[in-house]
Amino acid sequence: MQDQLIIFDTTMRDGEQSPGASMTRDEKVRIGKQLERLRVDVIEAGFAAASVGDFDAIRAVAEAVRESTVCSLARANENDIRRAGEAVAPARRKRIHTFIATSPIHMKLKLRMSEEQVLEAAVRAVKLAREYTDDVEFSAEDAVRSEVDFLCRVFEATIAAGATTINVPDTVGYSVPERWGALFGDLLARIPNADKAVWSTHCHNDLGMAVANSLAAVMHGARQVECTINGLGERAGNASLEEIVMAVRTRSDVFSCSTAIDATQIVPTSKLVSTITGYPVQPNKAVVGANAFAHESGIHQDGVLKHRETYEIMRAEDVGWGANRLTLGKLSGRNAFRSRLSELGITLASEEALNAAFARFKELADKKREIFDEDLQALVSDESVTPEQERFKLVSLLAHSETGEQPFAKVVIASDGHEMRSEARGAGLVDASLQAIEAMVHSGTELLLYSVNNITTGTDSQGEVTVRLAKGGRVVNGMGADTDIVVASAKAFLSALNKMGISAARVNPQYGEEPETP
Ligand code: KIV
Ligand code: ZN
Repeated sequence: MQDQLIIFDTTMRDGEQSPGASMTRDEKVRIGKQLERLRVDVIEAGFAAASVGDFDAIRAVAEAVRESTVCSLARANENDIRRAGEAVAPARRKRIHTFIATSPIHMKLKLRMSEEQVLEAAVRAVKLAREYTDDVEFSAEDAVRSEVDFLCRVFEATIAAGATTINVPDTVGYSVPERWGALFGDLLARIPNADKAVWSTHCHNDLGMAVANSLAAVMHGARQVECTINGLGERAGNASLEEIVMAVRTRSDVFSCSTAIDATQIVPTSKLVSTITGYPVQPNKAVVGANAFAHESGIHQDGVLKHRETYEIMRAEDVGWGANRLTLGKLSGRNAFRSRLSELGITLASEEALNAAFARFKELADKKREIFDEDLQALVSDESVTPEQERFKLVSLLAHSETGEQPFAKVVIASDGHEMRSEARGAGLVDASLQAIEAMVHSGTELLLYSVNNITTGTDSQGEVTVRLAKGGRVVNGMGADTDIVVASAKAFLSALNKMGISAARVNPQYGEEPETP
């Protein structure tokens, strides 16, 4: 019998700390349901004390998800823990994840607390969390730069106080596999009550070693890995879920544990997270990149055709590639559309939203012969925006380019029930369209990123555009999809402008003010 390796997904918490990746409540519910389909053990749905919006989103995930445990992060203070406890209350299985920093640099310069104060706050936080649930996780933030003797004291005390999972984070992505594995070996050997908790690893990717470090911890006794879909996360991101899961599965000769993950849901989950957050997946990304199973060189192609295992260690279909079966066509009706959406775990908020999405589906089917699941995901992503959130909407766009002439665009948008129109010339059609929009909205935003990806293959594929904007310290991502990439770009720009106007400020749990003592 192999041990179970618990997969703790923090895409909606640590992943959400990536610039512009914040998700609405409905988006979190959609991701939560997909993570449940993936059979993730624990879903960290957010940080309840960050904002009212995040509290509501965690509650909605706790109501919608039945199989996976739903978790909220909380700093080691009374308010955070009570908010987390209330947010996860509706969940069938609930967890509170409380943390405090234990490294000298964080305790001295960020928290301004002594070791004794930190230890006391940690124990108190765990005890309070246990009043809400029996499933309490404690993390020692910046464990990687903490003194091992102090870590041992904190972990022993928090296990004695009732923590059932002990998480050891490499918050700054500083470790290397050999050292990280050895730290787990040391902690497990030295802490007398170590066997009373599940040991967890949480690694960041600043030196590109988050997955390698996590796996080294697993080899030395960790039985929970904290990770994110596509390795999303602030700075260089977190350990990538798909890489951890497939490494453990593919190298079962090395790892004496297995996960409960349904690997065929990996690619659909990756695409959903990318669509919602606006973070594209690089083509050469392991497991979920568009080229992860593509063989370009003649020698490789020849080998694979003769016997697949000559160059492939995993099968594309086992991780969900090709699962994007052709689903609907021009003649499909509303019921077929609704039922495919529901098979994909998408429930639209109202009949009007369904009607609007169906109308857009028909328009798309007129332009594009084959409609795949990815097209449907992109098509409905706009429907999670409520009319109040959609301040600007694209009405029409005319774009003209001719060799030797400066490209020109004429754009009509609707704002609060009124139509506005403007025209501009630019370096290209996209530039001209975005300039025409800016001339109407005067957003004053700075464009940080513009990227285009094709959603499926073929020149009739929808282009998915990501636009990242910044203003006054806030960063938002907007996405737009259309078979015409100029239209997709205008939609992405408007979606980012709408987000800029709607999201409330969030507190980053790790940069927020120091915890009050409970
Ligand atoms: O990286 C980190 O230390 C964290 C903790 C809050 C677990 O994300
Ligand atoms: Zn983290």
